[in-house]
Amino acid sequence: LDEKIWLTISFGIIMMFMFFTGYQAFALDMAPPSNKEIIDPQKVDQTAPFDKPGVNKIGESEYEVVMTLQAFSFNPGNFEVPAGSTVHFTLTSKDVVHGFEVAGTNLNAMVMPGHIQKITQKFNKPGTYLVLCNEYCGAGHQAMSTTITVK
Ligand code: CUA
Repeated sequence: LDEKIWLTISFGIIMMFMFFTGYQAFALDMAPPSNKEIIDPQKVDQTAPFDKPGVNKIGESEYEVVMTLQAFSFNPGNFEVPAGSTVHFTLTSKDVVHGFEVAGTNLNAMVMPGHIQKITQKFNKPGTYLVLCNEYCGAGHQAMSTTITVK
């Protein structure tokens, strides 16, 4: 009888894991960037929305940041948003795989050439947030950083 109980518990745990994985993938859209829209990396500059990288106010305390990454910079870099803003990032790379990590937040994304990476963060605390590339991308990798200022 004991074995049947443990078998049922194990099976239940496996089903629970499968449910959470499925929920994250489909309901929360937490797919790897490889599953997201693909654009020709050579034509990033001509492809919307990346033809106009920048910071756009899209609502009350809500911003959209369209950003391109390339060795070894972020465009736009050093931008500013008011404290309490929710920022929706739409990212892509123009050359190789880069990383997008914002120190002191949960933002940490892989940005692949031609793939669109979307990630959202609310910035409550004023300060200067360091943005780092955390994927080795070439000789200038260690210099690839910028900042986000929250006022
Ligand atoms: Cu870009 Cu490392």
